[in-house]
Amino acid sequence: MKKVFYLLLLLPFMFACSESSDEDEMVPEVNEEYIAAKNYYNNTLKSVITTNCVSCHEGYHSRSNGSNYGELTNAINSATTMYNQVNSGNMPKDGDKLSQTDIAKFEEFKNLVDAIE
Ligand code: HEC
Repeated sequence: MKKVFYLLLLLPFMFACSESSDEDEMVPEVNEEYIAAKNYYNNTLKSVITTNCVSCHEGYHSRSNGSNYGELTNAINSATTMYNQVNSGNMPKDGDKLSQTDIAKFEEFKNLVDAIE
């Protein structure tokens, strides 16, 4: 009977530990630079990606077989490639080159990601 009591005591802690958001999982250290990149992504870059990229880059079933850049972790891991692709006009595939304003957003995000670690 005592054992059950101790188990019940532990329950709330077990739940507390299992709560974590998907997007933070791959990034081991959450530092100031990471938070800056995350905020920039959410507030500025994500809408550009949603409008111009996600139709093809939406995960395992995407046309490119690439990552879903609509998710922060993937965007962080691909920050440099994404910038290179939009800056060269290679992406969006078969579409018009992005405006300089939008390309600059990819560049800024790449710089913020480079600053992490
Ligand atoms: C019309 C579909 C389409 C759109 C829209 C599109 N892509 Fe792609 N993308 C592809 C395909 C297909 C590939 C695979 C390589 C190729 O065929 O050129 C690719 C490749 C890439 C790659 C190389 C890594 C990989 O996943 O294979 C990057 C980085 C990339 N795209 C970024 C972007 C970004 C950023 C945008 C939005 C600005 C975008 N793409 C919009 C279809 C698309």
